[in-house]
Amino acid sequence: MIEQLEAIKNKTLTAVADASDVAALAELEIAALGRKSEFMSALKGLGALPPEERKAVGERVNAIKRELETAFAARRADLQTSAFAALAETEWLDVTMPGTKPPEGHIHLVNQAIRDITEIFSRIGFYRVRAPEVDWDWYAFESLNMPSDHPARDEWETFFMDAPENDKQGKMVLTPHTSNGQVREMERRKPPIRMIGIGKCYRRQIDVSHVPMFHQFEGLMIDKNVSVTHLRGVLDYFAQNYFGPDRKTRLRPFHFRFTEPSFEVDITCGVCHGTGKLGDGAKPAVSESAEGHESAPSGSRGVERCRLCKDGWVELGGAGMVHPNVLKAGGLDPEEWGGFAFGWGVERTMMMRTGLRIPDIREIYSGDFRFLKQF
Ligand code: DAH
Repeated sequence: MIEQLEAIKNKTLTAVADASDVAALAELEIAALGRKSEFMSALKGLGALPPEERKAVGERVNAIKRELETAFAARRADLQTSAFAALAETEWLDVTMPGTKPPEGHIHLVNQAIRDITEIFSRIGFYRVRAPEVDWDWYAFESLNMPSDHPARDEWETFFMDAPENDKQGKMVLTPHTSNGQVREMERRKPPIRMIGIGKCYRRQIDVSHVPMFHQFEGLMIDKNVSVTHLRGVLDYFAQNYFGPDRKTRLRPFHFRFTEPSFEVDITCGVCHGTGKLGDGAKPAVSESAEGHESAPSGSRGVERCRLCKDGWVELGGAGMVHPNVLKAGGLDPEEWGGFAFGWGVERTMMMRTGLRIPDIREIYSGDFRFLKQF
């Protein structure tokens, strides 16, 4: 019997050494030492032995069994170690290698400008409001001192909605400017008012400097004893914070129906620094100079005329002191309250920031990543 078991042991040890992986070894272990194994059935002969032999044979049997179990455990440990070693070969990772950055988006340049403008005005107490972008004629024109047949309306090339008219408020329009927010704000809260309304505007126009959908920001300040000086202070503050500390503004008399007096706001040109020329007597500008200037036809040598501006100034937008009729339309007594307003295009203002030269405003909305990624 011992011989038989030794033979089984040797056969099993060879098989253990040949086992190629942990799973094969586990199967082999069941086959060699399990209940139905040759080894176990050989043990059945143990009971038939005379009692004096049984003890010695029993000890031998146990030793063989332990030897086999040890061999299985050792082989299992070996196989596991080499399996991990193989994994380390195939699945290693160099944690010191530079990573690959996933493509990162950013907000659209017009939204960046809207955030900047909002932030600059918020520092002097102007809060952001929104007015409807589809509104009644009353808010877009009539309440702004523009009666329905007034020719001034033609300047706002308006889209009218195909919707029923309202008896009191007239037709519905896509707001051609953000000034509809003025009377809406007067209705919404009692003065003092310091609002900055920013929204989309729509006009029937499209060329290199116009798009049918664009944005404006509308400032409105209503309080007691507000003067043109306050308006100038706010405009200078904005110009210096948005464009740069050396910029200056000027007011040129103009006409709007909803302000009296009315102005066009100009700002010193960022290319020629307000001189209107380059060369002698003017500091050369940075990168824009090549495109923004041309030689004066018969000027003195070395002096170039700035092509971006007229005599050192560029136009930003409209402003003025709120017309008494507009205050009345908003339910305010013009004897008691007064204020100023201004309304500028966001895209235009943004494009005037030094260093930003966009030859065609339509690029901004073309959705071309090659263009948008630059900002
Ligand atoms: N709404 C005017 C426009 O679209 C701009 C404007 C001019 C707004 C004067 C104002 C203002 O608030 O006071 O052309």
